[in-house]
Amino acid sequence: MSSQTPYQVLCVCLGNICRSPTAEAVFRHLCDEANLNVAIDSAGTSNYHPNKAPDSRSQQHAKKRGYDLSTLRARQLKTKDFVEFDLILAMDHENLVNIQALQIQALQEWGTSARRAEIALMSQHDPDFFEQAVPDPYYGGANGFELVLDQCESSCRAWIQVIQKKLEH
Ligand code: 4NP
Repeated sequence: MSSQTPYQVLCVCLGNICRSPTAEAVFRHLCDEANLNVAIDSAGTSNYHPNKAPDSRSQQHAKKRGYDLSTLRARQLKTKDFVEFDLILAMDHENLVNIQALQIQALQEWGTSARRAEIALMSQHDPDFFEQAVPDPYYGGANGFELVLDQCESSCRAWIQVIQKKLEH
């Protein structure tokens, strides 16, 4: 299993400094725990914060649950991502629409190889937050950052069950 190419997952939000880096760290931790051969990355639909470390509030709240976000750096979603990733996960519905629009551009640029990426909501398989957005915590208080962590933990667990089944076949 570990000698095979990992299944590639990309978590996407708007800025890539709050929600998607949190999702990246949580997902990676849970995949390691489940011994799953999955590689995780994250990106933003915007280019508001290129190369920036995650928001210090995201880092602090994540650290309390044992996740280290300090080495992550923001980048913008690009058309090549649709060729290189198996699964692209949107944190909210606006991200989803923007990702789908960029995939159309990617198909023009890269051809059918850009169909590799399945696009879905982070909450797609989560019975506790089914098809709900992970709300943007950037302009809010501490509760928002805790909710991001709660939803990421819950939704990533649900995705891991789905990916486990995909990798079995
Ligand atoms: P994120 O949060 O999409 O979860 O990274 C945001 C971070 C920054 C901004 C918006 C959302 N911003 O407008 O700068």
